[in-house]
Amino acid sequence: MEKKLPVALLAAAKQARGRAYAPYSKFQVGAAILADDGKIYSGGNVENAAYPNGVCAETSAISAMVLGGAKKIRAIAVVAGGPKLVTPCGGCRQRIAEFADPETPVHVCGPEGLKTSFTIAELLPASFDKRNLREKKPGLNPKRSRSKTAR
Ligand code: THU
Repeated sequence: MEKKLPVALLAAAKQARGRAYAPYSKFQVGAAILADDGKIYSGGNVENAAYPNGVCAETSAISAMVLGGAKKIRAIAVVAGGPKLVTPCGGCRQRIAEFADPETPVHVCGPEGLKTSFTIAELLPASFDKRNLREKKPGLNPKRSRSKTAR
């Protein structure tokens, strides 16, 4: 677990922010993930003229990590402008949690550096995750017999 924000992680998130494509909101965000393979994967928000098709910086970084072959987020840094804390949106919190442990740090930064750090469990308490899917009630989801499913 990386409790302290590594300098290289902040630098990668800042660089990604500079490359973000945000002509509509004019609100560029960068994110960088320190992954379980020791590498840093970054992403920026990429907006679209059809507004709902835009993606957040955190989601871009997660895609880069998965396609890079890494499996887990050890730490994530998010960089944005303005005086207020820019924490990941609800959807991104769920996406981060998919690849993180409850104590994985989410470092919230401005261009000048770290503002504050949370754990993902603080940002997404009582979360829904893959363990819920293993706890289905038998009556609601009967097992199909092998003969019907095997092809
Ligand atoms: N955005 C991010 O990329 N990450 C965040 O944590 C908050 C919001 C983006 C989405 C959109 O492109 C722009 O910021 C304004 O909401």
